[in-house]
Amino acid sequence: MNFSHLRKDFPTLCEDNPPAYLDNACVTLKPQQVIDSISDYYTKYPGCGGRSVHSYGTQVSRLVQQSRKSLAKFINADSVNEMIFTSNTTNSLNQVAKGLSWDEGDIIITGDREHNSNLVPWLQLKQEFGIDLIVVKSNSDNTFNMQNFEEACSQAGDKLKLVSMSHIGNLDGVKIPIKEITKVTHDYNALISVDGAQSTPHMKVDVKDLGIDFLSFSIHKMCGPSGMGALWGREELLENMRTIKAGGQTITSTTYDSVEWAKPPAKFEGGLGNFAGMIASGSAIDYLSKLDMDSIHAHEVQLNRIMTDGIKHLNGIEIIGPEKPEMRSGICSILMNDLPAHDIAILLDEAAGVMVRSGHHCVNSWFNDRGHTDGSLRASTYFYNTEEEAKLFVDTFCEAVEAFS
Ligand SMILES: Cc1ncc(COP(=O)(O)O)c(C=O)c1O
Repeated sequence: MNFSHLRKDFPTLCEDNPPAYLDNACVTLKPQQVIDSISDYYTKYPGCGGRSVHSYGTQVSRLVQQSRKSLAKFINADSVNEMIFTSNTTNSLNQVAKGLSWDEGDIIITGDREHNSNLVPWLQLKQEFGIDLIVVKSNSDNTFNMQNFEEACSQAGDKLKLVSMSHIGNLDGVKIPIKEITKVTHDYNALISVDGAQSTPHMKVDVKDLGIDFLSFSIHKMCGPSGMGALWGREELLENMRTIKAGGQTITSTTYDSVEWAKPPAKFEGGLGNFAGMIASGSAIDYLSKLDMDSIHAHEVQLNRIMTDGIKHLNGIEIIGPEKPEMRSGICSILMNDLPAHDIAILLDEAAGVMVRSGHHCVNSWFNDRGHTDGSLRASTYFYNTEEEAKLFVDTFCEAVEAFS
């Protein structure tokens, strides 16, 4: 499917000489519809939702609830009350980490290609509560090793409390079999938290079909406003989970020595919120809901195929993950070995407006383990990217590698 007719919705793509923006795993561009929603909040009804009963307040409450409904529908949640607005995936995962109850010796399992947001909260629990963390080793091409996972679960036994895995890795675009992982996790009566930062924007994610317990994602990676994310959790789990944002909005009543907690989602959204962000999140989700997620995925794989085929012959570089682009979604992450990744990233932008990411992509643990201390150069696509942009990346990257060799 060709999505190029949608480029007109994105102001940055309508400028003269628009960039070939290939840093979508970090943050995506915003369509005018989302920008208008933000502006409408500040210019037309800049009030406080959920509390004030004047017309600004009522309008904001209505739009926030509409936005929450769009999000719930997008991931096929059972109830709108299961949808919590957060500031990003990091915030959502920290709510899970600090909201559940832990005993010393409890075991959490995670993967060996995780973003720091799905590693550091567990390491913090290890430091502070004495929980144990098992890191499951992937295959040598970074694909998921089910046997290693099952062995880790068996080693943990009844101490296993939580499995937290990224659905698609931002390091390499590799997708892991969440449904099968969930089944094994539940066989051990443990919970499963999914870091959906790289899957929810790019493919159909159905929380009921996957059977998972928590899903964390970032709305700024799906055309939404910066600093907006969401946490979905099964209602009964959320009802029993501690909030990490205790305060206004999170209670139904207090006395000087007692608190009566509000039901989710209010319990988790303490303090005056980013209403412009919440409302514009709904606009972003409504925008994506009109597109076919399978076609988005197929389009990104096609762009990745162009990038992969165009650079794989170069000496001195190595694409992280499996050879086949269809196993790396829209992400082409390249180990530069002796070549300077940052300098090449700057050159691509200055010479041709090709914007990519260089460094460790917050997956320091994977690079440190393998001794690739300089990280990688990563091109990551979205539906508005074109085949011409993928070819431009190939041409400029090949020239840059030659220039630095
Ligand atoms: C897989 C994954 N998890 C977590 C995060 C953290 O997202 P955020 O910075 O929006 O909290 C990212 C960001 O790139 C990611 O790719």
